[in-house]
Amino acid sequence: MGDTVVFYNVTKYYVDPRSGEKIVALDDINLAIPRGKITCLLGPNGSGKTTLLKLASGLIVPDRGRVAVFGYDTRSDFGEICGKISIVFSREYIPLSITGLEYLTFFGMLYGYTRGEASRRARELLHLVGLDNKIDTLVATYSTGMVRRLYLAKALINEPKLVLFDEPTTGLDPVARLNFYSLVNNVREERDITIMWATHDLREAETVAEKIIFLNKGRIIAEGSRERFEEIFRFKGVVRVEVDSSSIDKYLIEDLKQRYGNLKARDSTLEYYYVSEDDLTGFLHLVSGKFRIANVTTSKPSLEDIYLSFFGGGP
Ligand SMILES: Nc1ncnc2c1ncn2[C@@H]1O[C@H](COP(=O)(O)OP(=O)(O)OP(=O)(O)O)[C@@H](O)[C@H]1O
Ligand SMILES: [Mg+2]
Repeated sequence: MGDTVVFYNVTKYYVDPRSGEKIVALDDINLAIPRGKITCLLGPNGSGKTTLLKLASGLIVPDRGRVAVFGYDTRSDFGEICGKISIVFSREYIPLSITGLEYLTFFGMLYGYTRGEASRRARELLHLVGLDNKIDTLVATYSTGMVRRLYLAKALINEPKLVLFDEPTTGLDPVARLNFYSLVNNVREERDITIMWATHDLREAETVAEKIIFLNKGRIIAEGSRERFEEIFRFKGVVRVEVDSSSIDKYLIEDLKQRYGNLKARDSTLEYYYVSEDDLTGFLHLVSGKFRIANVTTSKPSLEDIYLSFFGGGP
């Protein structure tokens, strides 16, 4: 099926307009976005998600490396790709005193359709996103969920093959969220659209994505199929071992960290995500041979725990 977007050794800087300081937003990213699937970019604030989307849209170009979309370089061949991409931000400017139909027709005309054709497409898309009964209603009276569906309709007006979503479900209630997921999924499947979707929400990524990219501080810290992350999400549990502070030895802890990738050490507590009972027993056996143990507790990690274990509490 091939990849729709490929990032080759992409580095992107911004310059702080006040201090003139260079900010590394993305650091040597290599990444392939598979065609016709949803790929989620998951990471805390400032990790580089929006920057990756902007690079894929061709709105900005890398400082080092290159980005290819549909096989074209975004720097040299932008004209070949720009009409086939849409980007959906979580908030967009909408003049409130126009109707949904007028809004979409306007964008259709911007893409070069005649007024009649743009209006026909606009009606079709308003129907697709379930806004039939709001066609001639002022956008000012739409609820957040309706506005989100309007953004989606707008994103489809140019028949894109790549749609970039930047936190598209912010502010939606749980039911509206699920409706939005299934709407996007149906559209993707029917129209063979590739989707890149930025979110901070692990549960959202787990629900919609076939591939998940974990970003932190401008770097990819993990990537893989949803199945692979489901495995990671299915840690059997987390064990917290409080050790007698007099027995702490930082070299021993470093040694343990080398052996156990999922180990975190904070003050006199060791925290370990284990994948099986045998793994837990082995870990406790080793730790009890090296430290005096004051207390041991185990629990099942929440998605939030796992997120924190990846991102260590953020940037
Ligand atoms: N226009 C800009 N000028 C200067 N720095 C910027 C600019 N845009 C982004 N940055 C910086 O680049 C880094 C990555 O930002 P980006 O917006 O891509 O992150 P993000 O993952 O989308 O964050 P969020 O979850 O908050 O939307 C951050 O350090 C941010 O401060
Ligand atoms: Mg962002």
